[in-house]
Order: sequence, then structure tokens, then C-alpha cells
Amino acid sequence: MLINLSSALVNTLQERRQQLANLIDFPAILWSGNTNPRNFPANVFPYRASSHFLYFAGLPIPNAAIRLEAGKLELFLNEPAPSSALWHGEIPKREEIAEKIGANVARPMAELESWVEGAATIATQDAATWTQQSQLLNRWVLPQNPPQGIDLELAKAIVSLRLTHDAGALAELRQAAAVTVAAHKAGIAATASAKIEAEVRAAMEAVFITHNMTTAYNSIVTVHGEVLHNEHYHHPLQPGDLLLVDVGAETRMGWAADVTRTWPVSSKFSSTQRDIYNVVLAAHDACIAQIRPGVEYADIHLLAASVIAEGLVELGILRGYPQDLVAIDAHALFFPHGIGHLLGLDVHDMEDLGDLAGYEEGRTRSHRFGLGYLRLNRPLRPGMLVTIEPGFYQVPAILNDANVRSKYQNVVNWERLTQFADVRGIRIENDVLVTDEGSEVLTAALPSDANTVEDLVL
Ligand code: GLY
Ligand code: MN
Ligand code: MN
Repeated sequence: MLINLSSALVNTLQERRQQLANLIDFPAILWSGNTNPRNFPANVFPYRASSHFLYFAGLPIPNAAIRLEAGKLELFLNEPAPSSALWHGEIPKREEIAEKIGANVARPMAELESWVEGAATIATQDAATWTQQSQLLNRWVLPQNPPQGIDLELAKAIVSLRLTHDAGALAELRQAAAVTVAAHKAGIAATASAKIEAEVRAAMEAVFITHNMTTAYNSIVTVHGEVLHNEHYHHPLQPGDLLLVDVGAETRMGWAADVTRTWPVSSKFSSTQRDIYNVVLAAHDACIAQIRPGVEYADIHLLAASVIAEGLVELGILRGYPQDLVAIDAHALFFPHGIGHLLGLDVHDMEDLGDLAGYEEGRTRSHRFGLGYLRLNRPLRPGMLVTIEPGFYQVPAILNDANVRSKYQNVVNWERLTQFADVRGIRIENDVLVTDEGSEVLTAALPSDANTVEDLVL
């Protein structure tokens, strides 16, 4: 909290507040969120401020609120207790913090209740804070409830700002991407001498800690890539295993990267692993080649689906014409998630607002197996940052399901599939900025072609 914001960044924050003022004609109050004690008040879980707060305030100030009106920011924050200096050192006073973030006024928290009239808000994730929000605003403000009335208007205004990134955000996102690339290189290099997944994770997160960053989400470092968000790290690394590694950094100000690579523990892909890897890579490359303003992200997802279907037909795993297979969601047996999502202050940016950010107004989620997990369904615009993350997984819960087996009985060559048993999960994920001309892969410095990945593991 002691970091200083550059004057350029303070200007950026002021511009964001002014842009919000251009979109709404009522005040907004955004809470940062409370610290959360583990077993006594001074021993807290790692603190993460609400992203909407961070977007306008810049710094992760715990237990604070900001009131935004007509481009002005009022900070509500209590002074630290006098005794806290003993344990935590000198904490800046409210006025100093207010000055750092370019606030116009600073007041104690107790005064906030006099300033809530007519104000909109967005629910924070922690219960202590949304309870306080509900009490002060005299209406339920719950993270699981879709916002309504002026809260919905505020949410839409913030979405329209956060959908595309300004220069201040991009500088942070580039730092997160660069440190994430360095972490993946460290993880690849650590594999040869690592005995269990945790050692690779440690080598990677050490890079974040060295840069005074943290993880943007719980790291996935697993030889069981078929568990999409596997958070266990105890498995031994054995020759013949693929290690699926989805690890991304978060900067001090909360901006995220989200990168996945899959590499062979032994440094050599088996022929079956290489075949599937190249199908996933072909989908990844084809999607990135199509990214430019105006393109529908749903079409990028369908492109990945058809490249994967085509590749699996060529390998004899699926039977039929790729377009027909995609139409019956046969690709989703092996690629059950969406091609990616928005990335920004959160790894699935603004998903606290449901599909308000991800889906163009008037569009809703499909009920189709192959489309239901698509998190972004909008035409792309310059300044959007999205992930592209095709994958192939043999998920037992899908492939052993009796209904799936009977529906896709003749579409899948189940016997041929058994020959690919050493491919449990592969994903390749990069962070792609939509530019005026096309796209820029912020994480391009991390190789993804099979031969180069093999060489790096050695
Ligand atoms: N790291 C989570 C995701 O890729 O969506
Ligand atoms: Mn992702
Ligand atoms: Mn990821």
C-alpha cells in the first residue's frame, strides 16, 4: 500500500472517473472489501481488493470505499489504530493515501452513511462487505444476484469502460504477461530435476514473488490435465507424463495474465501426444490468425471446434465431416470449454457481473454442450484483451457417461481412442490484445511449437 503511483497513472485514474461521469448521472460507491482474518484479527488471508474499486482507485486499500460523482473521488477510510504501528509499522494516514490516488476529499468510514442517498454500487465478493453495502444502501446487494435499477446502469457503464484497456492498464498487463512468460520458462527448466508437481509450481511462483507479484488465480501444475482446474500438486512426475501448466501473474495493482503450456516430463512427446498436441496447436494458431476488430468471438470458438474436429478425424478418433461433427457437439467430448474469455483486472474479467461483460446485449448463453461454456460472445474491438486456449482432454466423467457413449457411439472410434491413453489433457493458452490492425500476442515470447518446447525441457 506504500507504493507511489506515477503522475501519469494518477491522470489515468482521473480520466477513468471522468469517463464514468460521462456515462451516469448518479453517484457510485465502490467498496474495496474487508480483510479476512484466519484465526485472529491481525493474521489475515492474503488481501485482494475488489477489481471495480482498483480500476478507479488504483491501489488495494483494505476496508475502504470510494464515492464517485461528476468525476470527483471521495475516499472513506478509517485511520489505522494507534497500536497497529507496533505490529505493522507506520501506516500512511488517510490524507496521505487520498493524495496518492488523487482523491478530492477523504473522510472516516462512519461518515459514509450520510453520503449514500441515490448511490449505485456493485456487490463485493466477501460477505462482511456486501452485508455492510446492503445495510447502508437499505437494499440487498448480493454478489449472486444480478444488479438491478441504478446498480445495473452502473455495472453497464463500468463494463463499457473496462471492456477495452487504456494505456495505464496495458502497461500493467504487459508486465504481468512478461513475468508470466519468465515463470513458465523457469517451470520448464525445473522439470528435469523435479520429482513432484509442487516443485515445478514452486519454481514458477518464485518468479512472481521475486517480482513482488502474486498469482492471478490458483496455479494449475498437473499431470492430470483432464481435471480442468486441478489444484493438487502432490503427484510424482513420471516419464511418459504430460505436465499441464496454467499459471499467471497478477501485478501489485491487480492486473492479470493467464497462460497455459503443456510439456512432456521426459522432454520427448510420444507420437500420440505429439499428434494431439499439434491438433490443439493448429486450433490455437488458426484462432489467433483470425483475431481482429469486428470478428465475432463466438466464430473464433467455432473455428477452434472445427479445427479440432478435423484433426481428430485425421487421427481416426472421430468419424464424419468436421462441420457435421461440430453441429452435433462431437468436438466438445474432448474440448468441453470455451475458446477463452476477457482478461484484465480479473482472470475471467468482470465475471462477478455474470454475463453482462462477456455477452453483447441481447445475447444469452447457449444450452448446447459445445457452446454453453463460451464466456465471451461479442464482436472484438481494439483494446480488448482475450485469451485463446484450445485444449484436448479425456475427462472420464464425459467419456464414460452412458448417455454420451450411446449418443456418440458411431461418431467416436472408441477403440482407436484407447491408443491415445497417454494424452489425458493438453491446453495451449495465450493472451491476445485486439489492435486496430489485427492482434498482438502479449505472451508470444513463450514458445509453443512442439520441438521448441521439447528443447526447453532438456
Ligand atoms: N486459468 C483459468 C483459465 O484459463 O480460464
Ligand atoms: Mn484462461
Ligand atoms: Mn488459464
